[in-house]
Parts: sequence; C-alpha cells; structure tokens
Amino acid sequence: MIYTKILGTGSYLPEKILTNFELEKMVDTTNEWIVERTGIHERRIAASNETAATMAEQAAKQAMLAAGISARDLDMIIVATTTPEKVFPSTACLLQQRFGIANCAAFDLNSAACSGFIYGLSIADQFIRNGNAKHILLIGSEVMSSIVDWTDRTTCILFGDGAGAVVLGPSDAPGVICTRLHADGNHKDILSLSSQEKNAKPCIKMAGNSVFKLAVNMLGDLFDETLAAAHLKKSDIHWLVPHQANIRIIQSMAKKLELPMERVTITLDKQGNTSSASIPLALDQAVRTRQIKRGEILMLEAFGGGLAWGSALLKF
Ligand code: UT7
Repeated sequence: MIYTKILGTGSYLPEKILTNFELEKMVDTTNEWIVERTGIHERRIAASNETAATMAEQAAKQAMLAAGISARDLDMIIVATTTPEKVFPSTACLLQQRFGIANCAAFDLNSAACSGFIYGLSIADQFIRNGNAKHILLIGSEVMSSIVDWTDRTTCILFGDGAGAVVLGPSDAPGVICTRLHADGNHKDILSLSSQEKNAKPCIKMAGNSVFKLAVNMLGDLFDETLAAAHLKKSDIHWLVPHQANIRIIQSMAKKLELPMERVTITLDKQGNTSSASIPLALDQAVRTRQIKRGEILMLEAFGGGLAWGSALLKF
C-alpha cells in the first residue's frame, strides 16, 4: 500500500509589516478591538514587485531543499491561490518557467479560497496513492492585500500576504491518513470577491459574524467525521494545525479536540489570515522551530469562501 508523506516544508513572508497601530490611522479601528476580536497584532504586505508566483517560488525552494529533491524530480505542481498573477498562465506554470522545467503537470486551484491547501492536499494524495505521481509540490500563496478594500474596517484588518509549501511523496507507512472535503454554495453571499460598483476593483466582502458561527459548527462536525473515518480518537492527535482566521475560532476548535493551546500552531498574531497559505505557513513554522516532530499525528482544517471547508489527518 502506498501512502502520501510530507517530505519537506517551506515558507516565505514579505518583509513589510503592517501593524494594528498603523491600521488605526487608516480606518476607524483600534489595536484593542483587533487583538480582542481576532488575535491579530500585525500582518505582512507584499512589495509591489512581489506576486503569488514570486512568493511561491521562495517557499517551494525551501520545501524542495528540505525534501532533498530538485524541481526536475517533480511530477506535478499545484498552487492554491485566490490571488494569482494571471488567471492564465497559471501560477504553477509560471513556477515551471522560473525553475526551467517542463515535464510535469501544473495547475492552480483558485476557487477553494481559504480551503485551497486542504483541497490541494486531498487531490495530491489521490495521485500519489494510486501511483500516478511520485513527487508533488503543493503551495498556498496569496497576495490578499491586492483584493482587500482598505476603506472597509470589517475586513481590511484581517488579511495578510505570504506563501507556504510542501513536497509530497510516496511512503510505505502513513502519511496522510484521510482527507475530508465539503462545500455549500447556498452560503455564496456571506463571503465573496465582488465589486461594489460596475468596473470597480473586486474586493473581499464578508458577513464576518455569519461566517464565524457557521465555521464553528461546521468544523466541530468535521472533526468527528474525520476521526471516525481514520478510526482514531481525539487523544491520538498531537497537533491541531488550523486555518488562521480568528483566535476565538481556533480556541473553540482546540477545546472541541480537547487539546491545550500549546498543541495548536498559531501564526495569525504575526501574519493575519493569509487564506490558502495559512496552513502551510503554520506547518513550516512549527516544523522549523522543532515543535512538530516526525511521527506525530496532525489535524489540519480550513474553511472559507464558497463556503468550502475540509480537513486532513496525517502522520508527519
Ligand atoms: O478565512 C476566511 C473566513 N473568514 C473568517 O473566518 C472570519 C470569521 N469572522 C470573524 O473573524 C469575526 O466575525 C470578525 C473578526 C470579522 C468580526 O468580529 P465579531 O465579533 O463577529 O464582530 P461583529 O461583526 O459582530 O461586529 C461587532 C461590532 C460592530 O459594531 P456595532 O454594529 O455593534 O456597533 C462592527 O461595526 O464591531 C464593529 N467593528 C469594528 N470595530 C472596530 C467591525 N470591525 C471593526 C473594527 N474596529 N475593525
């Protein structure tokens, strides 16, 4: 039996830091409100010459170095992003050009929004398990600052830019134990990329409180479903690696899994919500600081626009 293993992780963050105090000068908000309601203190903002592709390249190089492979060894590149440089060519194809390779499949996953990395992991897992691919580079890369309405205090305080990557490969032992994907388009209006007026730049529109309540309910059920599918118990989980949207949602998920917060990867205080990049960024940080170790069981979860949500349970 073939399992999918994470062979290496990597990440990239732009240099520019935007603090809550700077946001106080831009919109009617306060550092106290943002910290108390979200847990975010600051976020990174891409420079004008940085794109989803340039950030993905940096994160991917780290992940391939950690995995001990080169770009020529890749069978597939999947980039999860809602903020690609272009709709086509895909960010994944732009990466092929940057790496000087041609002999692998390459595509973007644009539409699963914040759940893009989990959706990508589930797709990659199928290709590796059935023997159709050996090495897959999976990246979440986002320039959320390019789709934020900087006059809307209800959303502009939440998001940040960055990229996280993993290299996946085959193994005789788990690996990815199971993934679960969900979507419900009936909630299409509470979180979307829309233009306020005709011809205006599309920006994130969100009924935050509605998303919050749905996320807490959906993710709670998702944990039960994922554990049942994997024939595991809550006490088998060593780490929760959640999508970094709101510290109160994360705390409630940790409680649901009966995990102390020391066993939850947190990056949103310094990075905000980086959409599809948030899970691989958090994973890479925890791996590089030697918090997450080989052999430990991880629960990954995400939710976002669609609504689309999903989980992955894996042995690192
Ligand atoms: O990754 C994509 C998925 N997205 C999410 O996970 C987001 C989930 N939702 C959230 O994280 C939270 O709902 C928010 C952080 C977005 C908002 O927190 P909340 O506790 O749900 O606040 P609220 O929307 O119920 O608003 C409470 C009050 C309102 O004022 P009134 O109507 O009570 O007078 C807002 O206008 O807070 C006001 N408010 C703000 N005040 C200061 C909203 N944004 C701000 C702000 N600064 N930035």
